[in-house]
Amino acid sequence: MKVAVIGAGRMGGGFARALAARGYEVAISSRDPAHGAQLAHELGAARGGGEAEAVEGAAIVFLTIPWTAVAETLPRLGDLSGKVLVDVTNPYVEGRLQPHRDTSDAEEIQRLAPGARVVKGWNTIFSQVVNSSPDFDGQAATVFLAGDDPVAKESVAGLARDMGYDPVDCGGLSAARTLERVVGSLGTLGHQFPWGSYALKILRRPS
Ligand SMILES: NC(=O)c1ccc[n+]([C@@H]2O[C@H](COP(=O)([O-])OP(=O)(O)OC[C@H]3O[C@@H](n4cnc5c(N)ncnc54)[C@H](OP(=O)(O)O)[C@@H]3O)[C@@H](O)[C@H]2O)c1
Repeated sequence: MKVAVIGAGRMGGGFARALAARGYEVAISSRDPAHGAQLAHELGAARGGGEAEAVEGAAIVFLTIPWTAVAETLPRLGDLSGKVLVDVTNPYVEGRLQPHRDTSDAEEIQRLAPGARVVKGWNTIFSQVVNSSPDFDGQAATVFLAGDDPVAKESVAGLARDMGYDPVDCGGLSAARTLERVVGSLGTLGHQFPWGSYALKILRRPS
């Protein structure tokens, strides 16, 4: 399966490496296509370059850019119709988490890219985990997913399982409002642990 990663930073680089290692055909992009190509080489991704080029032919597109860059970036990605668009962003503005009042990053992305099938995911997972492993002594870190398209959400859940995560379906895309607030509690919940060294886990009993 072809997967595009938009944004060649901490999250993007981690996804590209993890997915390429599991046999996905990954294209990673940068605003600087030469940097994208160089990174692809370093991370073992199949292709690297510019943004629209990466999206072409991809079934799943990871959007791993700052929230504040979303509005300017989406129009550069070309036609996203029918593609699964995984939103990992958190609403940081000028270095501070500023959750929306009656919407979420994910819902705004869906509004800006109406043909895409937006799924929220990984926004509560530290980049250190993406770049190392979601395995914590045999326990898989939980990835919370939200989206209005059940087929798209299941395809992202499958990809999460392939990468070793435990995906949990949190409901429709508006559940991203909660997920984008949860991230604000991560520092408090793990205040005695080194930053990035922990992850949330949902424990459940079979029903
Ligand atoms: N870091 C974490 O632990 C973490 C955890 C969960 C969610 N997130 C979310 O994931 C997203 C990416 O985070 P990150 O930590 O990977 O960030 P990062 O290391 O700063 O990388 C973001 C990448 O986005 C690209 N980009 C595109 N337009 C940009 C712009 N106008 N300004 C700056 N960069 C731009 C840049 O790549 P090019 O310059 O190559 O284009 C940059 O390398 C953010 O929305 C963040 O809130 C982060």
